[in-house]
Amino acid sequence: MRMRAVLSRAALVSGLSVLVLLHTSSALSESSPTKPTRVAAADAKDALDVAHFSADGQLMKPADLTQWVFLGASLGMGYNQTTFNPASPGQFQVVLMEPNAYRYFMEHGKYAPGSMFLLSFYNADSHRSINQVGYVQADLTNFEIHLVDARKAPEEGRAFYVFGGPATQARALPKGSECVRCHAGHGAFDGTFAQFYPTIRGHIPPEALERALKDHDIR
Ligand code: HEC
Repeated sequence: MRMRAVLSRAALVSGLSVLVLLHTSSALSESSPTKPTRVAAADAKDALDVAHFSADGQLMKPADLTQWVFLGASLGMGYNQTTFNPASPGQFQVVLMEPNAYRYFMEHGKYAPGSMFLLSFYNADSHRSINQVGYVQADLTNFEIHLVDARKAPEEGRAFYVFGGPATQARALPKGSECVRCHAGHGAFDGTFAQFYPTIRGHIPPEALERALKDHDIR
C-alpha cells in the first residue's frame, strides 16, 4: 500500500512528463481560466531558513513536524477516477504548514520564501475500538513536502519532495514535474491548494478562491 502510493505519484512524475510538457503548452498556457493568480513576491529579507539540507542537497525530514499547523484534510481525494467507493474510501490526506511560514502568511497575506507545506497519507481504518461505521486514521504510509522558494528553484519558484514512510531525507523532483504543473495550474494561491484548507482559505484573495472553486477540470 505504501509503495503503491509512492510509486503511483513517482510514476506520474517520470512517466508522464513528456505528455505533460505537450499538454502544458497546448492547454494550460495562456488564457486558461485556471491560470494561477500572480502573487506579489515576498521580500528576500523575510526569507525563512527553516528547511535544512544534507551536504548533497537533499531536504531533511523536519524534526518538528508535530508542531506544524493543521490546514486541512481530505479522504479518498482522486484526480483521475470518477467514482468514490464508500466501502474502500482510499487514504486520508492531511496538510500541515510550518509554523513560522504560517505566522508570516497570516500577517502579510503571502508566503515568505522558504515556506514549507506537508501532505501526509494515512490508510483509512474501520471497526477499530468503539468505531462502528465510518473511518479513522490508521498509520502514516508516506509524505510529501512542498517548499515555496525561488532561491532553491529560481524558474519554478517551488520544489517538491516525496518521502517514503521511514525516509529521513529526499531529493527535489526535477524541473517540469507533474507536481509543479498541477499545483501551478490549479492551486488557488501561489501553487498551493488553499481552496481546500479551511484554516487559510478565508485569508486568500476572494477572486482567487472564486476562480479555484469553479475549476473542476483536471488536465
Ligand atoms: C493532478 C494534480 C496534482 C498533482 C499532479 C500533484 N498534486 Fe499535490 N496536491 C494536489 C491537491 C488537490 C492537493 C490538496 C490536498 C489533498 O490532496 O487533499 C495537493 C496538496 C499537496 C501538498 C500540500 C500543500 C499544497 O501545496 O497545497 C503537497 C506537499 C503536495 N501536494 C505535494 C505534491 C507532490 C510532491 C507532487 C508530485 C509528486 C504532487 N503534489 C502532485 C494536487 C496535485
